[in-house]
Amino acid sequence: MNKMESRVIKLTTASFKYGNLNLSSCGKEFFPLDIFGGSNKKSGLGHPITIEAEGIDKEIKTDIPTVAKTHSPRWIFRERSWSKKFAKLHNLKSGDTILLIRRSPRKYFITPNGKKQNKEKFLFIPSKGIPDLVTLEHAAHVVGKTPANIRYYIQVGRINKYDLSGRKILKARNGQLRISLKELKSFLYMLDKDIKRHHNGHLNKELGFYGLPEYERTKHVHRLHSYLGKFIPQLVEWFLSKNFKENDVILDPFMGSGTTLVQGNELKIHTIGIDVSEFNCLIAKVKTQKYDIQKIKNEILEAEKRLTSFSMHLFEKNYIQPSLFPEDKIEELKDSLMNEVKSEYLTKWFAQRTLYEMIYYRRLIKKFQYQDLLKVLLSRAVRSARLIPHYDLARPKAPIEAEKEYWCKKHNRICKPIGQLLVKIHNYSMDTVRRIEIFDNLRSDKSAIVIQGDSRNINLDNELKKTPLEDRKIDGIFTSPPYVGQIDYHDQHIYAYELFGFPRNDELEIGPQKAGSSKQAQKDYIEGISDAFLNVKKYLKNDAKIFIVANDRFKLYPEIAKRSGLKIVKEFHRAVTKRTEQGDNPYQETIFFMMKEN
Ligand SMILES: C[S@@+](CC[C@H](N)C(=O)[O-])C[C@H]1O[C@@H](n2cnc3c(N)ncnc32)[C@H](O)[C@@H]1O
Repeated sequence: MNKMESRVIKLTTASFKYGNLNLSSCGKEFFPLDIFGGSNKKSGLGHPITIEAEGIDKEIKTDIPTVAKTHSPRWIFRERSWSKKFAKLHNLKSGDTILLIRRSPRKYFITPNGKKQNKEKFLFIPSKGIPDLVTLEHAAHVVGKTPANIRYYIQVGRINKYDLSGRKILKARNGQLRISLKELKSFLYMLDKDIKRHHNGHLNKELGFYGLPEYERTKHVHRLHSYLGKFIPQLVEWFLSKNFKENDVILDPFMGSGTTLVQGNELKIHTIGIDVSEFNCLIAKVKTQKYDIQKIKNEILEAEKRLTSFSMHLFEKNYIQPSLFPEDKIEELKDSLMNEVKSEYLTKWFAQRTLYEMIYYRRLIKKFQYQDLLKVLLSRAVRSARLIPHYDLARPKAPIEAEKEYWCKKHNRICKPIGQLLVKIHNYSMDTVRRIEIFDNLRSDKSAIVIQGDSRNINLDNELKKTPLEDRKIDGIFTSPPYVGQIDYHDQHIYAYELFGFPRNDELEIGPQKAGSSKQAQKDYIEGISDAFLNVKKYLKNDAKIFIVANDRFKLYPEIAKRSGLKIVKEFHRAVTKRTEQGDNPYQETIFFMMKEN
């Protein structure tokens, strides 16, 4: 599927009467394969796409229904309550054409085609009463730029961020970022007239990775489990490929989910990663391990099959199958599963059925060879099955009541929290196999060694004994340390700690969110990070290259370099449009290139 493609759709009388858009000119290949649903909602919906229609404030989620008898597409969008309003807003009549543009595999944009469009009306779509404010995407469309261009103008401080009420803000809540069109246009005017002060020279354009779609930023094993604060693989690739060569050894002393290890391995570089959190180490190990692909496929599908059978027997009425779970034993089984739930967290954050399913799956894991992989798969599903609003997956504050309806900002409709795990296991089982298979074709046979510990005092000589990297000096570092007061790395995966009972080392985290970012917290942070670099420096070659990625808004890294006996050779500044899951807030980060002082 090509990325940016478009199709012309002609409006008919049915468009005005019923909201039908005749999609027959688009062709099946223009849509994802799974978009086609049943003839009516009861017979099942297809996997929806998201459409942004010019001038319509809400995103539209819709599938395409099929004809009951033939299963061929009905060639209209199922959700069409918006289309009459759209036609009215742009003064469209029967016979006019509109353009359906595919921006990414699941995101589309609809706009009037040619002279008919009512730009002025669109320019001033009110955002909750403030006439000049529009979303970033709308702004981009109006001025003929890409959303990435607009993000860039924000990052370099050329235009401001606003909230829905028109207040200037530094950080927008998800979905609430607004741009002033007047401000944007006047900036572009000056740019056009070549008023140089409006250009910004210090940001490295290549490192912006603008326009890189989501599925590339989270390619293959990088999406095996979510992780708040991981950097994009393309950034790692860019630096490693320019600064290191085959067979070099590099270290990431703040490994997180192992992005450096995965990308280093692809480039035939040996890698070592250290992280204080047991669960992060598990994710990194699972991502970098070499697998027997056929075997993982069998194991994952077998576990999925057994969970399905368990779940359907216990929770779906009218499910008829031979008695894998004899009637008189079911209550006993349920009791014994619940006896294994010792965590108050689990009982509060999950629906009853989800609890049974997750404990049952956890039991199953013991029967297989690739237990770590199955744990990560289960944890990914469990994370998505918490009793939380769909729009709040990254940092939920409290569980919501099972079955309770709420207004969902993500889907723009009434939603209910998920009440089961099975559907998530279905979603992620084959996805896991597929992702590992893709990486398996790209990976090298170089070592990827994961070490759980505190970088301030880890003894790498001991840790690397009897590994292929024993006695090897390290050629460089590529890392992104925690930043002061931003994330509690154990807490972000609390569900996994509670489910598997991994030991926690929260008190060893440097710069945790719960310690805040006061002057004292900054002092502690400088000390912690410097101690880590002082410690790992011993294992580096004298000319080792050290790359540290940090959003150093408190300007702490010059002091850290000094204390660690390192010199800053160069700084690269990049605009961060999206780190995975960090919401809608563009910001800048620095990649410090350092070397040993002497
Ligand atoms: C910004 S994250 C790294 C993310 C990583 N670059 C990725 O792409 O997944 C920082 C990591 O440092 C770890 N960390 C915090 N304190 C540590 C310490 N004292 N020793 C080792 N790791 C530590 C945290 O657990 C966290 O995983």
